[in-house]
Amino acid sequence: KEGKRNKLLEVNKEAAKYFYYQLRSQRGSIGYRYLADRQLSDEMMKKFGLGFSNVSSNDLVQYLRTKGYQDELIQEAGLASFDEKYGVHDKFWNRVMFPIQDINHRVIGFGGRVMGDAKPKYLNSPETMIFDKSRNLYGLNFARTSRQSNIILCEGYMDVIAMHQAGFTQAVASLGTAFTAGQANLLRRYTEEVLLAYDNDGAGVNAALRAISILKEVDLSGKVLNLEPYKDPDEFIKNLGTEAFRQRMEEAENSFFFELRIMEKEYNLKDPESKTKFHREIAKKLCGFPEEVERENYIEAVADKYNIGFDNLRKLVTSYAAQTG
Ligand code: GTP
Ligand code: MN
Ligand code: MN
Ligand code: MN
Ligand code: MN
Repeated sequence: KEGKRNKLLEVNKEAAKYFYYQLRSQRGSIGYRYLADRQLSDEMMKKFGLGFSNVSSNDLVQYLRTKGYQDELIQEAGLASFDEKYGVHDKFWNRVMFPIQDINHRVIGFGGRVMGDAKPKYLNSPETMIFDKSRNLYGLNFARTSRQSNIILCEGYMDVIAMHQAGFTQAVASLGTAFTAGQANLLRRYTEEVLLAYDNDGAGVNAALRAISILKEVDLSGKVLNLEPYKDPDEFIKNLGTEAFRQRMEEAENSFFFELRIMEKEYNLKDPESKTKFHREIAKKLCGFPEEVERENYIEAVADKYNIGFDNLRKLVTSYAAQTG
């Protein structure tokens, strides 16, 4: 089994090398131009080992065969698929390629992006014996040694690279899947604070809310970055620059207040009945702080922020806490 894992790592490494050289060849120039147009520097393309999969649909498989790899292994690595009509053929073609590395810089899978608006926008390697999406984070191989006081968690490959290019080498992404407890535990080894920089859209807000509760379970504190008026970190930095991004990091919102702000949208605070319901929900949520000092501090801050009488709010929290034990 260990032998098989090593074989899979080896064939992935060979594929990454192949894609890498394709990007720098004549045929890959369209991919290179795409990345350059998105303002990625040569240095970042190199650091992240970016590559290109050709238009013609069987280049990688043929190359790997000449290197002595069996079709079976190539398929098991998720680099090729099989169907009746075409036989064994490349999984990725005509895409810019993002090798996904584990914390030891070993290539465990790939993401590939189309260069236009076709669907799917990104194609990712399937899970394999060496690629468990829920236990790896894109960019963590670099972020783990970045010596920053936090780690920035975002959605996409391009976001990670844009942040690294701007000097925020503590940026990682959750590989296009929902953030998991396994990933939270992984982050726990390297940091105590996570800055969430998910996309500024409905999906991103929901993903952030889920990430906050997962972070809480492993005792990681989370803060939320406001990217307004841009959609994601890549676009924010491209438009407003490094210093503005650093500013937003400093202003990142306490995750509890972020949650309340989202919750608030479901109520009409001009209507006393709806407002009361909102305050009850806040009180229930405050029960989630088991430590008394912390809970008191939050009760005070919330009372201030939402103009609720401190004593009344505390009484309400105490009554809910008694109910739920
Ligand atoms: P760009 O358009 O290149 O800037 O990508 P993005 O990262 O901003 O895209 P988006 O916010 O739509 O998606 C965030 C992440 O989700 C991507 O980086 C991918 O990892 C993943 N993702 C996006 N689209 C797809 C898709 O069509 N299929 C799969 N499997 N993953 C996707
Ligand atoms: Mn998104
Ligand atoms: Mn995005
Ligand atoms: Mn984007
Ligand atoms: Mn006060």
